[in-house]
Amino acid sequence: MKIDILTLFPEMVKAVLSESIVGRAIKEGKVEINVINYRDFSKDKHKRVDDYPFGGGRGMVIGIQPIYDCLQSLDLTNAKILLTSPQGKVFTQKKAEELSQEQHIVIICGHYEGIDYRVTEHLIDEEVSIGDYVLTGGELPALIIVDAVTRLIPGVLPDDATTGDSFSMGLLEYPQYTRPQDFLGWKVPEILLSGNHQQIAKFRLKESLRNTYLKRPDLLEHYPLNEEEKQLLNEIIMEEQEKIRKKNS
Ligand SMILES: C[S@@+](CC[C@H](N)C(=O)[O-])C[C@H]1O[C@@H](n2cnc3c(N)ncnc32)[C@H](O)[C@@H]1O
Repeated sequence: MKIDILTLFPEMVKAVLSESIVGRAIKEGKVEINVINYRDFSKDKHKRVDDYPFGGGRGMVIGIQPIYDCLQSLDLTNAKILLTSPQGKVFTQKKAEELSQEQHIVIICGHYEGIDYRVTEHLIDEEVSIGDYVLTGGELPALIIVDAVTRLIPGVLPDDATTGDSFSMGLLEYPQYTRPQDFLGWKVPEILLSGNHQQIAKFRLKESLRNTYLKRPDLLEHYPLNEEEKQLLNEIIMEEQEKIRKKNS
């Protein structure tokens, strides 16, 4: 897969891309990531990219010309062009999975008060938001998208490493533990030490349902529970009600 990140702050983006799993995926050629400063495409003699908004108002708006020329310089034959924007559809694991199937993604990072709206209207496929809050620029959103997508590219992580991840199956992941078995008297659940794989799988399914029920009950509205899961969820609801009853008595 190839990813082009169009930004005014290339060093900020490059610093993060060189680290950890994404950095390794780049080194191993699993993903090619180009960081392009679209200021280099500005036709302004001082390489300015922003200007005052028509109609007045605060702040500066990034003009369409440098972005248009920057896009023109790329081979966009199979490209999906994304604009980072708080006005976009909120980025999800499902979106990351969809994007991981693409051959080429281009991500445009805005800054200041944003980008001339004709970029949204004429040059991109989709606006993508990373949440309902406003950041100073699109660099962190672009890095979040790149990170979430890269770890799903085949070969970047070991097989099956992402299958049980939160959201990938519609539920939050079960709790994970590692050594020591006992830390200050806080013990790892016995069942995980039992070696009984069937029981461990059942425990994990139940705790995955519990995590989802307690932390993100909205996800359960869209999750088709099978008979076993319905039964486990009923047990969880009773257990949690009992915990509340004991706490209040
Ligand atoms: C200060 S924001 C502009 C916000 C714009 N004035 C608005 O209210 O919609 C500058 C840039 O940061 C990026 N950005 C800010 N918040 C974002 C979010 N939640 N998701 C994705 N990109 C975001 C976008 O690239 C945006 O063009």
